[in-house]
Parts: sequence; structure tokens; C-alpha cells
Amino acid sequence: MPIPTSTDPVRELDHRFRLAISEVLGIVPEACDPQIRPSGDPRHGDYQSNAAMALAKANGLKPRDLADRIVAAVDLTGLAEVPEVAGPGFINIRLEMGAIASMLASMDDASLGVVRQNRPHGVTVDLCGVNVAKQMHVGHLRATIIGDCIARVFERLGRRVHRENHLGDWGLPIAMTLVALQEAGANLDTITLADLNAAYRSAQASGNADEKGLAAAIANGCGPHRIAELEAQNHDARAAVAQAKATLLKLQAGDIELVRDWKKIIECTMREVFETAVTLNVVLGPEHSRGESFYRDRLSTVVEDFMESGLASEDDGAIVVKYPDRDRPMLIRKSDGGFLYATTDLAAVRFRVQELDSERVIYVVDARQRDHFKDVFDACRMIGWDRTSDGERAELVHLGFGAVLGPDKRPLKTRSGENVTLASLLAEAVARGESEVCARSTDPDSPTHGLDDTELHAIGRAVGIAAVKYADLSLEVSRDYVFDLDRMVSFQGDTGPYIQYAHARIRSILEKAGVEVPFEIESPALPDVTLTLGEPAERDLALTLLAYPGVVADVARTLEPSRLCAYLQRVAAAFSAFYRECPVLKSEEPTRSSRLRLCDLSRRVLADGLGLLGIESPRRM
Ligand code: ARG
Repeated sequence: MPIPTSTDPVRELDHRFRLAISEVLGIVPEACDPQIRPSGDPRHGDYQSNAAMALAKANGLKPRDLADRIVAAVDLTGLAEVPEVAGPGFINIRLEMGAIASMLASMDDASLGVVRQNRPHGVTVDLCGVNVAKQMHVGHLRATIIGDCIARVFERLGRRVHRENHLGDWGLPIAMTLVALQEAGANLDTITLADLNAAYRSAQASGNADEKGLAAAIANGCGPHRIAELEAQNHDARAAVAQAKATLLKLQAGDIELVRDWKKIIECTMREVFETAVTLNVVLGPEHSRGESFYRDRLSTVVEDFMESGLASEDDGAIVVKYPDRDRPMLIRKSDGGFLYATTDLAAVRFRVQELDSERVIYVVDARQRDHFKDVFDACRMIGWDRTSDGERAELVHLGFGAVLGPDKRPLKTRSGENVTLASLLAEAVARGESEVCARSTDPDSPTHGLDDTELHAIGRAVGIAAVKYADLSLEVSRDYVFDLDRMVSFQGDTGPYIQYAHARIRSILEKAGVEVPFEIESPALPDVTLTLGEPAERDLALTLLAYPGVVADVARTLEPSRLCAYLQRVAAAFSAFYRECPVLKSEEPTRSSRLRLCDLSRRVLADGLGLLGIESPRRM
């Protein structure tokens, strides 16, 4: 087994230790998790295996004895030195320099070592999820950028990915908005999203009947004026709702004029969504829109199928699904015959698993919808709609994200208490990025000194967007975080601009050395140079780079983009240490070329990783 077959040392060590443990214990390799981890302290080697501690007891052995036997059995030819057993039974592993160099060289192509997942089924990512006639707010930022990142990671792993933007484009709120617009005599050809949003809100308000308030006023013996006033308000509200219901029926029946207006307000909303997607550097276009309306003809079948399977029952005229383990039922048809958000989502799961043939359906939606998705997913599992064409169970996951908070640690609002629109937030971020970049360019030593305004603004935009996206993606998805542009846009610390800067700096080192840096990340600049990794900092950087494929796979498994962010920080830090300790430009050949090749690989891993986060890598900063 002399030549490593993988570019990932952890995979390679896992493989070889598995065989050894299997031989020592006489069990199948699948049952022998060698627990290979990067070592916490380089003095103890590069990696360690903790298997002996985990497996000794069950096999009636002392951990140290088991560790010795594993070490005697393991074949590490061409990969690592003879391991040391330390402490209670840790196995410390140090890779051979030649093995590191050859793995690194084989990673140095378009793949950067990332292994394609060959699976027959696709992956669906439910992202963005805007509502028609409503402006995008900060919640949509998260649903859009986290979803885009997850989709990019699966695409990078060679998977067929369906990005599904499940628009709220159907139902009573839309009908109410259409009525309000008609009454106001609005021109739908020139209307803006802000106007639509205002119509939507006034329609919501006019439809809000305060029945409880009226009952309380009567019970408390409020004056006749107050009661009459409330009665009148409630009467208006009921009338507004009744009118909207009539409009909805007409829309559902395909009334030509209404359908035309409905399409116009969708178009108006989506124009802004697609513009925002461009600003955010997110892959999201009309081909990804499949809104609630798409499922409208499937809803009655959904209810019938649940009734037929005995999983749904009538309850006071309404139809509900009940669960064996909880009291909360899920309403799937109202007593007036109307369907619900949940009914649509049941139809959507079925479609995504069975027609789009996805074995994983990932919902990037606000964590507050947890109960909704639990109910929908459980119902689909009960009825068997989570089975792909070949009968495999698809994994349905709600990747619920936390809230974006203001400096007061409360959900982010404007000064006047309104929701912050995404458009205004991004405009501010871009402005901050631009002023930061322009200010730096005044320094004659800055690589951006002398660039023209257009170039500076393009870099500034990339920096501002990177700041916002990285700050969001670098935390565990479920966590709330405080939106703090000052911190996010800084070129230092755990920020997007810091990683972008690290990338641009390496690029300029390569250019100074006269290396022709290809524009695409895919092309290695120095593919034939022999790598020598004698210095500890070189070795450390090399090992960090070799971890890249494992990190990408890990993000796909855990759905946590923060792991990629943390990794890119480690690459930037390992590169800094390397550059501090190992002269590049002033060193002699062949060291100089070897180091330049390390620079080029570092640059491409950073750019590729940023690309998976949906963050651009400017050439100069
Ligand atoms: N439009 C919904 C909302 O604003 C989000 C849609 C999420 N996706 C889904 N399949 N339910 O809450």
C-alpha cells in the first residue's frame, strides 16, 4: 500500500488504521472507527488516533496494549513514520514529508482535492422564500445567503442541486392586496415594490377585525360610542375580508384580468429580488421560482390522500392530521374549504422527493417555523412521501436560522421601529466597503493606489458584501447575532474582508515574483514544480491546505457554513506564519519555486472557499 490514493491524509489514515484494527480485533473494518484527528500540539505529531481508548474495554484489553498492537499491525508505508504510543493509549502519527508533498501535488489541480459524491439522487435547497408584494427584510438575507452557500457546496461536490424559491404568491393576503390596489386605481405597469408593500400593509390593517376587543368593550360596559365605533370597524374589516375572499375565488377560477394583475405584482416583486440576488452575488433567478401557486392544483389531492390513508380526520368541519406523540394537530383544510401554508408544504415535499428526485430536502427558513416543519415532515414520513423512486428514505431537514439583532439585542429595526429592508441594509454595507477601500487607496504603498474610481468602487462593493455575508455565515446557523457593520467590514479579525485581503496579498506576492497568475481558480500556476517542505511553517501550511476537501465534505454533512469560514481563517493564519518565517521572493531556487507553488495553492484554496460562501475574491485590495 505504498502510494496514498487520496489527497486527504485523514481519509488515508482512516483507511489504513481501519484495516489494522480490524486485523487486531478480528472484526469488520466498518466497525473499527480509528478516530483520526489533527493533533492538538505539533510536538506530538500531525494527527492522532484515539481508537485504542474507545475500543479497549469492550475487547477486554488495556488501551496501551491495544494501541501497541494496532501500531504493530498498521501499514503506513509511504505515508507516515512509525507512530508513537503516548499517555493512556493515544497513537501519535507524523506524516513523511514526501507523502505530504505528493498529496499536495495531487491536490494541485482544478478539483483542489474535493471528491465528487456519486449519488443517483439530487438535493433540494429551499431558500429565499420571499412573499409577493412585500419588501425583502433582513430575515430574507439569511434565507438567501445560507441557502446559496449550501447549494454551492453540494454543486462543488458534483451533486444535482435544485434551488427552490418557495414564494408566498398565493392566498388571501395577495387577494387583499389586489383589492386594495384596484380600489386605489394603481397603475400596475409603473408601480414600485414600496407602493405594493404599502398596499399590502393597508390591506392587512383593513382586514383586521377586533372581535375580542368588541366583546371586552361590551363586557366592561364601555360607553355606546366606543361600542358603536368598534362595531363599525369590525363590520368594515369583515366586509374587506369577504371581498378579498371573493377576489381570491375569482383568481383561483382563472379570471383573466385578475390573473394579469397578479402576474404584474409578482413581476414587480421579483425584479427587486433578482436585483438583490445580483448585489448579494447569489445564484437565484426566475428558473428557481416555484411559489405556493405552483402547488394550487395539487392541494385537494393532498387532503384526499391523507383522508384515504386514515391519517387525517374531520374536526369541526376542518380537516386535521393527528400525531401519535403530541396533542398539536396540523390543520390542512379549513372549515370554509380553504387550504393552508402547511397543505402547500406537504405538496412541495412530495414534489421535491418524488418528482425532483431529491434524497435531501433542506429548508433554510427562520427557526421560528420549527413546529411547522416538524409537523409537515412527520406527516410526510407517516404517509411515505419521503421515499425516493428507489424506495430510499429522503432526509427532510429544517435548517432553522436565528434572528439578526440590533445593537440593543432586539430584532433589528429602523429608528422609527420599522423592519429594516434588505435593500437599505445592503446599500449601507456597500457604501461602507467603498469608503474603506477608497480611504486605503490614498496610501501610496497600498496595492490599490492609483486605481481608477470604477475599479475602487467595484472592490469596495465586493468588500461590503463580503463583510455582511461572512459575518452571517461564520456563526452557527441557529444562533442570533448582532448586526454591527463596523466590526464586519474590518480588514482584521474574523471577517470576510480579512480573508479577501489575505487572498489579494498572496496574489500580489506571486505577481511580484513574475509568476503569471491565471484568472481562473481552476488552473494551477506552477503545476510541475517539486515541493519541499522542510520548515515547520511550510509543513503546517501544507497540512492545513490538505484539509480542504474534508472541510467541504463536512459542510455538506453538517450544513454549517461556519466550518468553512473557520477553516479559511486557519489557512490565512497558516499562510501568515509561513510568510513571516520563510522568505519567498528572496530565497534561492529550488526553494523559491516550491514556496511560490505553496503560495499559489493557498491563494486558490482561499478563492475557492470564498467562492463557496458566495464571496468574491478581488485581485487587489
Ligand atoms: N414565505 C415564507 C415566509 O415568509 C417562507 C417560505 C419558506 N419555505 C417553505 N417551503 N415554507 O415565512
